[in-house]
Amino acid sequence: MISIPGGSTQVEKRAVVSACKAAGATDVYLMEEPLAAAIGAKIPISQPSGHMIINIGGGTAEIAVISLGQLVVYKSVRTGGTKLDEVIAQYIRKEYNLVIGDRSAEDVKMRIGNADKESAQQDVTLEVKGRDFQTGLPRIIHISELEVCEALQKPLKSILDGVKEVLSLTPPELSSDIVDRGIVISGGTGLLRGIDRFFTYHLGVPCFIAEDPLLCVIKGVGMAIENLESYKEAIR
Ligand SMILES: Nc1ncnc2c1ncn2[C@@H]1O[C@H](COP(=O)(O)OP(=O)(O)OP(=O)(O)O)[C@@H](O)[C@H]1O
Ligand SMILES: [Mg+2]
Repeated sequence: MISIPGGSTQVEKRAVVSACKAAGATDVYLMEEPLAAAIGAKIPISQPSGHMIINIGGGTAEIAVISLGQLVVYKSVRTGGTKLDEVIAQYIRKEYNLVIGDRSAEDVKMRIGNADKESAQQDVTLEVKGRDFQTGLPRIIHISELEVCEALQKPLKSILDGVKEVLSLTPPELSSDIVDRGIVISGGTGLLRGIDRFFTYHLGVPCFIAEDPLLCVIKGVGMAIENLESYKEAIR
């Protein structure tokens, strides 16, 4: 069972199947990643009602409306956790003349990152070490949760715009299911503090983080392979 990007073409799917067969696999099943994420997030994807999932990984955010085991509307936005790290590093370079590495930027995000402006605080700070852009010497600064939050808003807005576009293309009866049930967030970036409140605030629809968001895709693939029959609409 291989998870593939949503919206993969027939040619791409055949290429994946032949690569797996060449590697020695006898039976190859494909599943679009947003469906796998939804199964792993315990969404009952085979129901006729509509469900929405936002799977935010490192490189991309995949946004999908699912019904009857299939993707009804799907969009992939090239913004994910890595972009969030980048904007944090850019902010620190611009405001503090300090150059930091990718790992430090990710560390700042995980430790004091917060997507939600309402709860981000000025007096929660983190010590960040880097190299002064002008003198080249090592230096330490203190950055606040609120500053990191402000820096994160722009890339988060581009994911939000993708979600709004998908909602605008969703058939009305499925939209009403989504309003009732809420939107599920999965992927490693689902661990960013306040990301549920960010989407809830801007969409006016309740958004929830899946249990173990980082593991949804892999868990979903595992559940699908153990229940091939119940997920047959979702398997290619
Ligand atoms: N506690 C955390 N807070 C914020 N972000 C986190 C946290 N833990 C992990 N991440 C981020 O999650 C991202 C990785 O998520 P995931 O493993 O879902 O991505 P991926 O599946 O490898 O990427 P893609 O789906 O784009 O190919 C990284 O950008 C990482 O920084
Ligand atoms: Mg992923």
